[in-house]
Amino acid sequence: MKEVKIESFLQVYESFDELPEHVKSLMQEAMKARERAYAPYSNFSVGAAVLLENDEVVTGNNQENASYPSGLCAERTAIYYAGSQFPDVKIMRMALTAGSRKKQTVAPIPPCGACRQAIAEYEVKQEAPIEIYFMGETGKVVKSDSLANLLPLVFDKSFL
Ligand code: THU
Repeated sequence: MKEVKIESFLQVYESFDELPEHVKSLMQEAMKARERAYAPYSNFSVGAAVLLENDEVVTGNNQENASYPSGLCAERTAIYYAGSQFPDVKIMRMALTAGSRKKQTVAPIPPCGACRQAIAEYEVKQEAPIEIYFMGETGKVVKSDSLANLLPLVFDKSFL
């Protein structure tokens, strides 16, 4: 038996203001998308903006449902739309922002496990990393150079 250590490297920006300009504009798109979230059950709104290699920006937000599990997270709403509209265009970057309508969210909110798996599919498909930036409504912004940092031991097509 031997132990295996898994390490991930992330960058942390002190606030939105510290982001590079091109990332700010993508995050602003995510913020606008968050405002349009349909989240009457959780009151937790999430916005996602996806930048494609052809400079298209695709946004999405969480869409809830009275039958709770039928709802979908913002990240998957956005990335599935990107995949359906631009199947051969690389995904460069995603900006994510989340916040409760009941209290201000300061902590950076990472994508859930199911969304990480969904994003990983596209990273594997395009054989190039997808940068992820995530934040709450305000506060620190975390950057990951690749989805892979957020999902070690990914399950992908190589096992099938
Ligand atoms: N949600 C997202 O949109 N993305 C995530 O990564 C985590 C959770 C949504 C799902 C649900 O509508 C609400 O946030 C509360 O879980």
